[in-house]
Parts: sequence; C-alpha cells; structure tokens
Amino acid sequence: MAKSNYRIAPSILSANFARLGEEVDNVLAAGADIVHFDVMDNHYVPNLTIGPLVCEALRKHGVTAPIDVHLMVKPVDRIVPDFAKAGATYITFHPEASEHIDRTIALIKENGCKAGLVFNPATPLDVLEYTLDKLDMVLLMSVNPGFGGQKFIPYVLDKARKVRQMIDARGLQVALEIDGGVGPANIAEVARAGVDTFVAGSAVFGKRNDADPNRYDSIIGQLRAELAKV
Ligand code: DX5
Ligand code: ZN
Repeated sequence: MAKSNYRIAPSILSANFARLGEEVDNVLAAGADIVHFDVMDNHYVPNLTIGPLVCEALRKHGVTAPIDVHLMVKPVDRIVPDFAKAGATYITFHPEASEHIDRTIALIKENGCKAGLVFNPATPLDVLEYTLDKLDMVLLMSVNPGFGGQKFIPYVLDKARKVRQMIDARGLQVALEIDGGVGPANIAEVARAGVDTFVAGSAVFGKRNDADPNRYDSIIGQLRAELAKV
C-alpha cells in the first residue's frame, strides 16, 4: 500500500451539529480526505442520527469531498436512492440488515454510488466470497456500532489482515476501511494490518480548540505523521 493512498475519514458523529457545515469545511481544510457520515435509525442500532437531508445540505453548503455514508439502518433499500440523490459518494451497509445483499449492492451502483459492506466486530466475513469483486469498499467495525468514543477492539486487526489478503489475492482495488476507536496511538498498527481508509470521530473532533481557527490541523497532521511511520 503506497503511503500516499492512505485516506483519513473524520466521522461527523462527533462534530458540533449546530455548525456542521463549518466543522466539515475545517476538517477538510486541515487535510482530511473523506467525510464519514453515520446514519443510525434507533432500530438496527440503539441511536438516532442524520439522514439524506443533512447530506444534501452539506453538498449545498459546497462540500465537494467524497461523502462516505455508513448506513446503520434496517431495512436498507428504501433509503438508498434518497442518499444517492442527496450526493452520497459511497454507501455502505451491514449485510445482516438487508434481506438480499446482492440486490442492495446492485441498487447502490444503479443509483450511481460506490458500494460497500460493513462487518461488525464478531460478524464473519463469509459473504465476501461472492460479493468482494462487486464492492468498492469493505468497512470493518472495530467497535460495536451505535456510538462514538468507544474502545478499539484489537481482534479486528486479524480480520483486517484476512480481508487485505483476499483483496490482494484477487487483484482487486477495493478500499479497506476501519471504524471505531482509531486515533494517533493505534493508526499505524491498523495501517500495518492492511487498512487504507481510517475513520476517526472523537479522536478528531474531540481535539477541538475553539480559540484556534486551524483547530484540526494538528490532529490530522498527527495522524498523517503516524501513517508516515508505516
Ligand atoms: C460508530 C460509528 C463510528 C463512530 C466512530 O457506530 O460508525 O463512525 O463515529 O467514532 P470514534 O472514532 O469516536 O470511535
Ligand atoms: Zn461509521
């Protein structure tokens, strides 16, 4: 994995929602690559967050960076076209939340978005056998989904190595993303396991210093410096 291909994806779950547009502008200006957008429905996960209207509002605000919509919702299909229209770049979903995984992947692509599957820490990877070549991204949860600020679950590193091996063995260009408990202390170790796209919520937005107009430069810089050691 070439170092320049590492991508940092701040999760706006930990941003200040009262001034979300500005928060997103600031992390992108600080060098973040992707906006990670957590959608929770109080059904698939015990929390409720944001939907297509907020995604559309970010596009109208002028955000041009990729928006990585992580659907923690059940059912999945109904909401896919809405997010596509709202400007999503990636749409990822949890396989156990869809009755027909192949159909949902096709639906995401037909709507012009990149498709990804998300695996909870204890969810096996078996569905990748028949889906990996159709995917643009595999997202490994390194916490149980629903909340920011949880502790990284180390056995997911093993899973990351397995997925990296599958991607490389098939000569595919699928992004391998990790989500949960990632920060400067462990990002290098996660990269060594084969991950190329790093979600970080509380590690980034928790470093807010309202007195400093460039408040995310230092944390994004720290994450990049750690990645440069890999
Ligand atoms: C959890 C979400 C994550 C969350 C990560 O269900 O999918 O994207 O924001 O937060 P941190 O980085 O604080 O663990
Ligand atoms: Zn997420």
